[in-house]
Amino acid sequence: MADKLRCGVIGTGAIGLGHLLSLNSCPRATAVAIAETHTQRAKEASERFKIPRSYNDYRELLDQPDIDAVTIATPNHLHAEMTMEALKARKHVLLEKPLATNAKDAARIVETAKKVKRTLMVGQNFRFNRYTQMAKMLIEKGEVGEIYHARCFWLRRNGIPRIGSWFTQKKLAGGGCALDIGGHLLDACLHLIADFDVVAVTAQTYAKFGPRGLGEMDWGKGEVDPAKTFDVDDYGVAFLRLKSGRTVILEASWAAYVPSDVREYGIDLFGTNAGLSLYPARMFRNGPNGYETIHLSVPKLPHSEDRIHHFVACVLEGKRTLVPLEESLHLQQVLDAIYASAGTGKEVRLK
Ligand SMILES: NC(=O)c1ccc[n+]([C@@H]2O[C@H](COP(=O)([O-])OP(=O)(O)OC[C@H]3O[C@@H](n4cnc5c(N)ncnc54)[C@H](O)[C@@H]3O)[C@@H](O)[C@H]2O)c1
Repeated sequence: MADKLRCGVIGTGAIGLGHLLSLNSCPRATAVAIAETHTQRAKEASERFKIPRSYNDYRELLDQPDIDAVTIATPNHLHAEMTMEALKARKHVLLEKPLATNAKDAARIVETAKKVKRTLMVGQNFRFNRYTQMAKMLIEKGEVGEIYHARCFWLRRNGIPRIGSWFTQKKLAGGGCALDIGGHLLDACLHLIADFDVVAVTAQTYAKFGPRGLGEMDWGKGEVDPAKTFDVDDYGVAFLRLKSGRTVILEASWAAYVPSDVREYGIDLFGTNAGLSLYPARMFRNGPNGYETIHLSVPKLPHSEDRIHHFVACVLEGKRTLVPLEESLHLQQVLDAIYASAGTGKEVRLK
């Protein structure tokens, strides 16, 4: 492989443009092609980023032998098929979250990645956040002690992606806010405590704003269904039991009447020596002068803050990524369990 990774970007909507920006600023990669079904968006992205090749059908992009890797930023229901096709075409893949819309498809993807021996990483950007990395270092040094409980949340007030777009349709998205933004925080939280071994989930979800056309924000470039379909959750809460005895609470809302003077998203870790709170990062503990709050800053990061730069470096250097596939699969199993529990009103056992 050459010094620079030659990349294609599949889907140039809201987040695909972010991928192109990131590749543009990456000294070790070049974006050489895009695939996008929407003609105008394809034209704008090619012109803005001076991309020489543009395809309507992503399979044509995958047929190009000079492309080493692809990033996939398409609606969730396309992740499984596109990722498996890309891996079979022997491309390395950076896939936007979630891995798939359900755990069954997620398992098929992971199996394919193992067979073809290519790098596949889900773009869990919260793991690359400087405060997450700082917290991870402190936990690994033992500063927090044993973490026995954690809570994580992302509570938007008016943050439903455009109503009627793929985001708000169960068959295209796989779920609503619990999967979309809850998945980010839950992944970062389980990554911090280094424990994805969830054995039981109790959850409830609600749809109180979307069906009334309330709480929308202007996110997502995809087409809007004229019926303005909204058949996903706009609030979700889950209680997780881990095999280790730890517990985790997740709360996510796309729209809710909640205070604006507190963090919109965060993680709180309850340890035997200290508490850790994100975002930003603070540590709480009993010091010689009583209860202390320490504001944490990051002198040196172990990983790039840009997930795509990290992915590129891992492919070129043959290194493991910061987002192991097994963990992305476990996360998807937990998300499935959240929806199963919300659907039945019962606890769901994972093992
Ligand atoms: N990491 C993050 O923080 C983050 C943030 C937002 C979205 N996402 C994820 O990124 C993905 C895309 O989200 P988005 O907000 O950019 O959505 P979007 O609707 O803005 O963009 C999706 C794009 O995919 C294109 N597309 C659809 N079918 C295609 C096909 N067959 N071939 C090529 N292109 C196709 C659409 O035309 C559109 O331009 C989703 O999986 C979402 O969960 C991640």
